[in-house]
Amino acid sequence: MKIQLQQFDVLESTNVTAVAFAKEGAPEGTVIVAERQEGGRGRMKRAWNSPTGGLWFSVVLRPHIEPQYAAQVTLLAGVAVAQALRQIYQTDEITIKWPNDLLLKSKKICGILSEMQLDENGTIDYAIVGIGINVALNPKDFPKDLKEIAASLNASFNKNYTCTYVLAKVLQEFDFLYQQWLIKGADMVINLWKKFNCTLGKQVLVKDNDEVIFSGEVISIDETGAIVVRSKEGELQSFDFGEISIR
Ligand code: BTN
Repeated sequence: MKIQLQQFDVLESTNVTAVAFAKEGAPEGTVIVAERQEGGRGRMKRAWNSPTGGLWFSVVLRPHIEPQYAAQVTLLAGVAVAQALRQIYQTDEITIKWPNDLLLKSKKICGILSEMQLDENGTIDYAIVGIGINVALNPKDFPKDLKEIAASLNASFNKNYTCTYVLAKVLQEFDFLYQQWLIKGADMVINLWKKFNCTLGKQVLVKDNDEVIFSGEVISIDETGAIVVRSKEGELQSFDFGEISIR
């Protein structure tokens, strides 16, 4: 994939700009980066705190695959970021919480928001993978509600990496995994996801819009990225949406 960087000082959201570029025909590999976002978006329609110091970017993809496999791109992105950050910061303490939150010792350091557009034939027109990584934020400046649940990488590891450096590494990992995935399918991605995840085997509450809808132990993840949860009574349910809190 040929990477074409489009850099901005400030955007509402790199996902919004990436969608606009994709609609205008931007090729696969177009990457929109902003130094800060004024309307950064998170999952579940939440706002995403995006001041200067973090790495905020979105990648335009045009995979020729069946739409039902598109969710694998999000798993792939989580794996690529985890690989890159583990290498850069020389740590194995960065883990993936289903579906694609990256945690450092149970505090969030990265979030991923993907969106997809089908064309009139039902094939994928484009997919956007938006990635936010807390590279060089000052934890002292975190808003109150994030202080307990988020961390910043440089501050945690006492390093001084730039967002540009981290971006280059992440894109390198992403591109490699993406090519492998297109050629060979999802096995490698799922296996790496399993290696990095901190979710399998855990007791969790499954939530949809902050409402608990199921609880139990996560016993597996399938190739679409859905988790299978077993309740106390032995009932099995799989979830491909929502989020979990680990108990
Ligand atoms: C989450 O809720 O965990 C997902 C957060 C995704 C944030 C990134 S920052 C770059 C891209 N642009 C956005 O507006 N959101 C994503």
